[in-house]
Amino acid sequence: MSNSVIQCRCKKETEAEKYERIAEVIEEYKDREGSLIQVLHMAQGIYGYLPVELQRFIAQKMGLPFSRVSGVVTFYSFFSTKPRGENTIRVCLGTACYVRGGKKIVEKLREILGVEVGGTTADGKFSLEVMRCIGACGLAPAMMINDRVYKQVNPDKLQSILEKYY
Ligand code: FES
Repeated sequence: MSNSVIQCRCKKETEAEKYERIAEVIEEYKDREGSLIQVLHMAQGIYGYLPVELQRFIAQKMGLPFSRVSGVVTFYSFFSTKPRGENTIRVCLGTACYVRGGKKIVEKLREILGVEVGGTTADGKFSLEVMRCIGACGLAPAMMINDRVYKQVNPDKLQSILEKYY
């Protein structure tokens, strides 16, 4: 039996190769209903974020006005025009979480990470964002790190939660 380890090569992919992959996605999706949002999701997955040059590329390839593409990107909070950290922290500031200390969580994370909301740590490890209700109001305050939901978050436990991502 082989013990060889499969190495991920994603980080080594060149800019041109990423654009090539995005062009393939556009070819596949462009005639489908609601394709723009799907293409943007896939493009963000491939490129990491959606800078203006990439939005122009998508608009041109899909035969859409640039304003339409940029309008969708700016409307939805899950699209980012700036590079994101390896892990995205989203603190809920919906009503229940806000009332039960969501803001304290944001303050504590700003202090621990040394970034403002919308920012990314210097080591590229975390991006800090806020969002509205994530459906865990009964166990507020809540936050997400990537796809994992943390409920009844105690600001004093944040440091140990973050350590799991190093
Ligand atoms: S308000 Fe935060 S989960 Fe609903």
